[in-house]
Amino acid sequence: MSAVTRNVAIIGHPVSHSRSPLIHGYWLARHGIDGAYGVRAVAPGDIDSFLAAFAASGLVGGNVTVPHKEAAFRACAARDAVAEALGAVNTLWLEDGALHGANTDVHGFLANLDAAEPDWARALGEAVVLGAGGAARAVVYGLLQRGVDRVVVANRTRARGEALRDTFGPRVLPIDWRDLGGRLVGCRLLVNTTSLGMKGQPPLDIDLSPLSPDALVTDIVYVPLETPLLKAAKARGLATVDGLGMLLHQAVPGFERWFGVRPEVTAELRALVIADLKAKGQLA
Ligand code: ATR
Repeated sequence: MSAVTRNVAIIGHPVSHSRSPLIHGYWLARHGIDGAYGVRAVAPGDIDSFLAAFAASGLVGGNVTVPHKEAAFRACAARDAVAEALGAVNTLWLEDGALHGANTDVHGFLANLDAAEPDWARALGEAVVLGAGGAARAVVYGLLQRGVDRVVVANRTRARGEALRDTFGPRVLPIDWRDLGGRLVGCRLLVNTTSLGMKGQPPLDIDLSPLSPDALVTDIVYVPLETPLLKAAKARGLATVDGLGMLLHQAVPGFERWFGVRPEVTAELRALVIADLKAKGQLA
């Protein structure tokens, strides 16, 4: 490689399953950019020292995935407003030798819905979010930022929903999982952020009959692409958006930051990632 090659990597533990090298590699080739996007597996015990010495790592930037997003947040000298709101960083870069961070998960979630259903947020008074983990934080924040009046959070462990309300304020309404049915009456946006429905996990088995006929149902799980939830929604004639687009769209701002070109989420890229998932036996 030439001396000017810009090296970026996904940092996680484990990280070998990551689709980020495929996504960024596609854009690097498409734009003819002298860059490389690799993988750095960093164990939890090593992440703080790795990030503290990031400027000496040979990388000009990186993505951060589970379980290091909070460590990345702590390690940054400066962060964007979304990262500050979420307490988690998934995108790193260097400025004058200092580590900077952003969180692009919110962008990924919103841009995926915008691309599939441009009017999804219009006059949306309430949304129902299932789950209250790390992914839910990004989803809830994104919905509030987009102007949804109230975000109902149903989670198996109610205290985690309450923690989201404590963070984001009274427009977040935590409810018990068993009260979900009543809350779905007339619901126009339902988002699954739990791991239910993921390959190897139990399905998310809820009755969708109370939802509004114009409801949109979306799942951040993308293995399988059509989760049991999305399949049931389609069977009822409801609009659906699968979770793969969130993965693709969250990658856009980082690529632009590191390589100076805003890349596009194309049908070709989506097909490439689906083919890779199939080749690895993860999708039928
Ligand atoms: P992530 O960062 O991907 O959101 P997480 O923080 O582990 O991952 O959150 C997983 C979410 O799936 C949580 O909302 C979790 O509910 P709890 O907070 O009660 O653990 C939810 N989840 C996982 N398995 C579940 C199950 N069998 N039934 C209901 N909810 C489940």
